[in-house]
Amino acid sequence: MSAIIIDGKEISKKVKEEVRLEVEKLKSQGIPPKLTVVLVGDDPASQVYVRNKEKSARKVGIESDTIRLPAETSEEELVELVKKLNDDESVNGILVQLPLPDHISKDRIIETISPMKDADGFHPYNLGRLMAGLETVIPCTPNGIMRMLDEIGFELKGKNAVVIGRSVIVGKPVAQLLLSRHATVTTCHSRTKNLEFYTKNADVLVVAVGRPEMIRGEQIKEGAVVIDVGINRKEDGKLVGDVHFESASEVASWITPVPGGVGPMTVAMLLYNTVYLTKKQHGIV
Ligand code: GUN
Repeated sequence: MSAIIIDGKEISKKVKEEVRLEVEKLKSQGIPPKLTVVLVGDDPASQVYVRNKEKSARKVGIESDTIRLPAETSEEELVELVKKLNDDESVNGILVQLPLPDHISKDRIIETISPMKDADGFHPYNLGRLMAGLETVIPCTPNGIMRMLDEIGFELKGKNAVVIGRSVIVGKPVAQLLLSRHATVTTCHSRTKNLEFYTKNADVLVVAVGRPEMIRGEQIKEGAVVIDVGINRKEDGKLVGDVHFESASEVASWITPVPGGVGPMTVAMLLYNTVYLTKKQHGIV
């Protein structure tokens, strides 16, 4: 079998077009959505991500402002900045780019962001609402994965979904979302024994571990849908996912590529979240 590629670039274009139309509508009502991104330090990957977010936001008409701070910024200074942004009525969405320098507590900063302006959906209040099955702002990558599954018309009810990785940003929320669609969900991680036992039974396999090409075709169930969240740069400079694409696409029915899979969806869903928060703040949804 040769898997069909789930084209994240194409699907993200569709999402961005939907967002653009919503932004236009909001602007005509005198409500211009605005996203403020905070970047501390000069991590090269973060700089690329932030520039990308900024560019994509502008393309759909979202006002985008990036505040760049030196690596020496103290935790208190960052807390004060976030509080200022919470109080600034012109700002609808706040995103503090991770990772933060070691001397700053990521958890404290995330908890300082107003849940109403939490563009990443990382605030424990919003994660708690997700867990409770309540409507809320959903973390971008998990939301993007669900949108991809919907786009290919995959029915999750009763299926075996296996998530590898238990991060708060991807693994845990995506497992919750899959569960809410009535899949039977198993979360695997670095201490899981006999990983293949789980992956071989997965109708949907989501891999979010950050280890280049760790899952190979031999570990995948025939006909599975494979979602590869990893972005790893190999020594030769080549970008690869957490899944060995060539062998996996021999076995899977659908597969996301790297690059051009989950990555573009994450940015599109950030813009979606910004519009969602803007509407919430104005009592529109
Ligand atoms: N760093 C890598 N991915 C993300 C993300 O989705 N949000 C934030 N804030 N930082 C990140």
